[in-house]
Amino acid sequence: MASLTIRKLDDAIKSYLRLRSAKNGRSVEEEVRVILREYCEGSPAPTASLTLPSTPAERPAVQRTGPAIGQASVTLIIGGGIAAFKSLELIRRLKERHIDVRCVLTKAAQQFVTPLSASALSHERVYTDLFDPGSEFDAGHIRLARECDLIVVAPATADLMAKMAQGHADDLASAILLAANRPILLAPAMNPLMWNNAATRRNVLQLRRDGIHMIGPSAGEMAESNEAGVGRMSEAIEIAAAAVDILRPPRPRPLAGKRVLITAGPTHEAIDPVRYIANRSSGKQGFAIAAAAQAAGADVTLVSGPVELRDPPGVTVIRVESARDMLHRVEAALPADIAIFAAAVADWRVAHEGEQKLKKTSAGMPPLQLVENPDILATISKLQDKRPPLVIGFAAETEQLIHNAKAKIARKGCDWIVANDVSPETGVMGGDRNTVHLLTRDDDNKIRVDSWPVMTKEQVAAELVAKIAKTMEKKS
Ligand code: CTP
Repeated sequence: MASLTIRKLDDAIKSYLRLRSAKNGRSVEEEVRVILREYCEGSPAPTASLTLPSTPAERPAVQRTGPAIGQASVTLIIGGGIAAFKSLELIRRLKERHIDVRCVLTKAAQQFVTPLSASALSHERVYTDLFDPGSEFDAGHIRLARECDLIVVAPATADLMAKMAQGHADDLASAILLAANRPILLAPAMNPLMWNNAATRRNVLQLRRDGIHMIGPSAGEMAESNEAGVGRMSEAIEIAAAAVDILRPPRPRPLAGKRVLITAGPTHEAIDPVRYIANRSSGKQGFAIAAAAQAAGADVTLVSGPVELRDPPGVTVIRVESARDMLHRVEAALPADIAIFAAAVADWRVAHEGEQKLKKTSAGMPPLQLVENPDILATISKLQDKRPPLVIGFAAETEQLIHNAKAKIARKGCDWIVANDVSPETGVMGGDRNTVHLLTRDDDNKIRVDSWPVMTKEQVAAELVAKIAKTMEKKS
């Protein structure tokens, strides 16, 4: 099989890939894989949009929105740890987002990366010494602390965090942190034992109370052999995204004060202690809606069946197994202003779940009698007192999409239905994209169908949340 070296591609293609991957939060290699997959699955090849934006105004909004992004500058303090090598990538990620970066290296950091490499990537002088006559004659540490929009510390070592928590200022990095009047983002990285040590726990708590932002650490293998646990520094792309979030002007929060309840994922219906009935739902669409509603300011509870997705930040996630568990947890989470039922709930379960693993016997196949599961959407839609003012269902169909979705909206008694074709050839179940049709009721209760173009599940979520916000505004 031939291999592809991204470094050797045309500059225009590389720039396009960098922009696209940064926008989608993927590595360039992952982005190439997604493009190839989409192409093979029949989506139009991306050549139409290959023309690079020529003026800053034409560049994607995410990179240029608001005064902070576009003119922002970051003082990046690189602490001494093996994760310091990732900070070099972080410089690139920040610069891709049009953020100027000035680096400060602690003495220990210089054991891992050189000032020269940080300077080559940032195109700026690198600062290392509190007593550098070249910069300290005019209080350079104060300028580094104040002449920026954000200070990022990556890796934030246990020692740097302890110094910050105690207010020490005996080197350039700690002096900058003490003199700062700008937001500070820490990306901690250390051995799991150090992270879990009572002293570090106290320092983390103190720093959080002091209003310091933190990203990570995450769990994984350590550089030390045979060690694993929580302590790995977040990836450069995640730190850059967190920095952009802090720098970006506050987003509108049209769902502030609203409670949103969402179901997502499949359910597993046990046959015996080791077997279950399931379906191919990945939960991605429901999780994306939860994240979008949270970003719009809502208080979000997500009741999810078994999926391999991370909890969206700021969302209360309740993990369940079966349809009956899901119904109980949904009922317990009421009242809500908006309920969105994106879960692919199993319609049936076995009438008598085996207490022990079912065995093959000479008597032949075990009889599996099925009984119907409760319909969560219909149950909540038909509540008298606690019915949320806006109830939205999904319709997963493989034929006669609109016809079946119309029947479903009437049968279930919900207000809207998001209908999607889940036939295997669409790749919707488990995939990253969705083509949906939104069925709503107009003022005289007639059903209106809006067909949306193919979008990522995140885009579908954002559109749906925007539509919900508009409707809620009208209602109030
Ligand atoms: N739903 C639910 N509880 C169930 C079955 C479905 O809450 N036991 C919800 C889904 O979350 C979705 C909507 O009902 O919002 C429609 O689900 P779908 O799987 O499309 O349809 P079903 O109701 O299962 O009907 P059918 O299998 O006949 O298409």
